[in-house]
Amino acid sequence: MKILVVGSGGREHALAWKIAQSERIQMVYVAPGNGGTALDNRLQNVPITDPLWLAQFVQKENIALTVVGPETPLAAGIVNIFRDQGLKIFGPTKEAAQLESSKDFAKAFMTRHAIPTAEYQTFSNIRAAHDYVTQKGAPIVVKADGLAAGKGVVVAMTLDEAHAAVDLMLSDNRFGNAGARVVIEEFLEGEEASFIVMVDGKNILPLATSQDHKRLQDHDQGPNTGGMGAYSPAPIVTPAVHARVMREIIIPTVQGMAKDGIPFTGFLYAGLMIDKNNHVKTLEFNCRMGDPETQPIMARLKSDLLGVLEHAVSGTLDTVELEWDRRTALGVVMAAAGYPDAPRKDDVISGIPAETPECVTFHAGTTLAGARLTTSGGRVLCVVGLGDSVKMAQRQAYQAVDQIRFDGAQFRRDIGWRAIKRPG
Ligand code: AMP
Ligand code: GLY
Repeated sequence: MKILVVGSGGREHALAWKIAQSERIQMVYVAPGNGGTALDNRLQNVPITDPLWLAQFVQKENIALTVVGPETPLAAGIVNIFRDQGLKIFGPTKEAAQLESSKDFAKAFMTRHAIPTAEYQTFSNIRAAHDYVTQKGAPIVVKADGLAAGKGVVVAMTLDEAHAAVDLMLSDNRFGNAGARVVIEEFLEGEEASFIVMVDGKNILPLATSQDHKRLQDHDQGPNTGGMGAYSPAPIVTPAVHARVMREIIIPTVQGMAKDGIPFTGFLYAGLMIDKNNHVKTLEFNCRMGDPETQPIMARLKSDLLGVLEHAVSGTLDTVELEWDRRTALGVVMAAAGYPDAPRKDDVISGIPAETPECVTFHAGTTLAGARLTTSGGRVLCVVGLGDSVKMAQRQAYQAVDQIRFDGAQFRRDIGWRAIKRPG
C-alpha cells in the first residue's frame, strides 16, 4: 500500500516513520519532506506542495490514503479538493479547520457550546480595542485572528505592551480599512498541556498526552517559538483531568461541530491551561497534530498507525484501541542560529547517531544534497529519548544531542523540568 504524508517538518517525519513500520506498506511519500525523510529508504520525497498537483500525483501513483501535517494546506482546503475527487485523506475540511485558522471562529464556537475558555471580545476597530484593554487592565492577552505561525499571540504583562500589540495587529485598520481583527482575552494562570485526539466526524480516539516548551531558553525565558521540546505522557494530565477534558472540552467540541453542520475529521489538538484546582480551560484549538509533540507521541505508539488511519477515514475509530510504550519519550529540539526571528541556513550537520530502541532523531529544517546534510529552517532536529522515567528519557535524549554538531545550534537543557519537579 502507498501512503502520502503532506508537510516537511519533524511532525511529518515522525508520522511517515511510524506509518512506514506497517507490514503492509509499499512506500510512504512525503511532500515535500526534508533531509531526514530523504535519508530513510522506506520514505520518498515528492517535490510538490500545491494541493491540486498533489491530488493528481495521488491519482497517478494510486496512493491509498493521504495524511496532512501542517495547518496551511488544511486551511487552504486540501481536504475539500481531495474529497471532491474521491480520494481518501485524513484531516479537517477548510470549514472545520477554522477552529485553528480563525481565533474569532474558535472563541465564538466555544461560547456557543459552553466549552471552557478565557473570557474575550473580538475587535476590528482600533479605538474600541484600546478602550477594552484600558477597561480590563493587565495582564491581558492579544491575539491576531488569522493564522500567524505561532507569532500572533502577545501575552501582555503591562498595559503598554497590550496597547502596542493592538497597534501592531490593527494598524491596517487605522484608516477605516477593517481587514484585520484581534481577539483580546483574559490572562489565564496555570500549567499548559497538549491534548490531541483523532476524530472521524463522530468517534474520538485520544492519543497519549504531552507537554510542549514554547520559550527559546531554559527556565522558560526568551521569545516564544514553535516549540523547543516536548515529552509524553504529561503527568499533569492525571486520569481525573483526562476525564474532565474529554467531558468538558473534547466531546462537546466534536458534537458541537457536527451539530453546526461542519463535522470535524482529523487530528484535533486542544491547548489546555490547567489551574491549581485542576480546572481546565481551552487556550486554543489546532486542527492538526502538534510539533514537536508528535515526535515523542509517535515514538511511544505501538499500534499500527496505518490501520488506525484506515479506521479514521472509514468512520470506525470506535473500534480502535491504541497500545502505547509505557516509557516516557522526551524530544529535544535543536534549532538553527538566529531562530526564531531569522534562522540561518546552510550550516553543515554531523554526528546524528543511528536509531536505537532508546533514541530516534527526527528531522525538520534539514536538506540533503548528495551526502551533505545542512540546516534549512528554524527548527532543525528533534532528538527523542525513551526511558522508564522522565529523567532517564531526558538522559537518553541529551546523550544524542551532545553528539550532534552544527554551527550556532540552539537547544534547551531543561526539557521535561516540570514533570521532574512534580511531587510523587
Ligand atoms: P496560542 O497560540 O493561542 O496557543 O497562544 C500561544 C501561547 O500564548 C500559549 O501557549 C500560552 O503560553 C500563551 N497564552 C495564550 N492565551 C493565553 C491566555 N489566555 N492566558 C495566558 N497565556 C496565554
Ligand atoms: N507545539 C505547538 C503546536 O504545534 O502548535
